[in-house]
Amino acid sequence: MRSKVTVVGAGNVGATTAQRIHQLGYADVVMVDVVEDLPQGKSLDMLESAPIMGTDAKITGSNGYEETAGSDVVVITAGIARRPGMSRDDLLLTNMRITSSVTEQVVKFSPDCIIIPVTNPLDAMVQNVFEASGFPRNRVFGMAGVLDTARFRTFIAEELNVSVEDVQAFVLGGHGDDMVPLTRFTNVGGIPISELMAEEKIDQLVRRTRQGGGEIVELLKEGSAYYAPSAAITQMVEAVLLDKKRILPACTYLEGEFGIKGLCVGVPVKLGAGGMEKVMEVKLTPEEQAALRSSADTVKELVEVMNKAKAEGKPAQG
Ligand code: APR
Repeated sequence: MRSKVTVVGAGNVGATTAQRIHQLGYADVVMVDVVEDLPQGKSLDMLESAPIMGTDAKITGSNGYEETAGSDVVVITAGIARRPGMSRDDLLLTNMRITSSVTEQVVKFSPDCIIIPVTNPLDAMVQNVFEASGFPRNRVFGMAGVLDTARFRTFIAEELNVSVEDVQAFVLGGHGDDMVPLTRFTNVGGIPISELMAEEKIDQLVRRTRQGGGEIVELLKEGSAYYAPSAAITQMVEAVLLDKKRILPACTYLEGEFGIKGLCVGVPVKLGAGGMEKVMEVKLTPEEQAALRSSADTVKELVEVMNKAKAEGKPAQG
């Protein structure tokens, strides 16, 4: 029997993710969205590509959760983008409300699933979904680091004119601005990046990676990146479904590792059939530890805003 993957949110990131997973052929896919007929229309279109792409996997769309029952993996991309006049906290609380209600339904119909939140602000949403689900931490982890490293690897490969496959990179911390690249662990075919590139150049590529999301938004004018994000999600889903034991960066709930307790932060983990099977802890230099701490502090601030709103029962504007 094929595995079952649900993707909540049939927008740019969700639909592209559903398409990629469906095309791999080893999981049936269900797409859910609040917009009537949208997931149904997109999934039917994808299903009709199956004879050409050579996949027998099923893909369906729904506005409810009954069809998602018994999913092995659920990806949450549901949310809204920041609108004019909306503060950062308004966005945080609106997406918190959305991901909380989605999680409630997901857990009801797929109590044994693994959840991969993708909605931004990523680290805070992972914390929210983790808490709302009541799942053990190995079954909730977010996508950000795989995307950040993919961007960094792309820029390094382009600069050195080498295969992207031979570039390995390592990032810690939050998504985007808060990313902590560990360049001493970044290598090309095993050769440390510092042997191949001037420090100044490395710093420039790190800066471009940090602003990678913004660079795409500026070009697209409307909406944000989705091809690379959906590829990153697909790699994580694949690691779980095929029990690959891949070592990838993911946003996970830390219980003291890297000196951080009770917060969801991006760190290298082992992903397999059990979900987040192990946090791969490494010894950091004092500078790296400080950068990670500051990244974790940003997550903490957002979590505090969410906790305050939850305590006050404050409705978020949607
Ligand atoms: N349940 C299900 N779907 C929802 C809900 C909900 N409660 N609320 C909103 N949605 C859907 C929207 O209808 C829309 O189709 O989520 C989808 C979001 O899609 P887009 O607006 O195209 O956003 P996208 O680019 O896909 O990004 C989704 O991923 O990378 C992050 O920052 C990004 O938080 C954003 C998320």
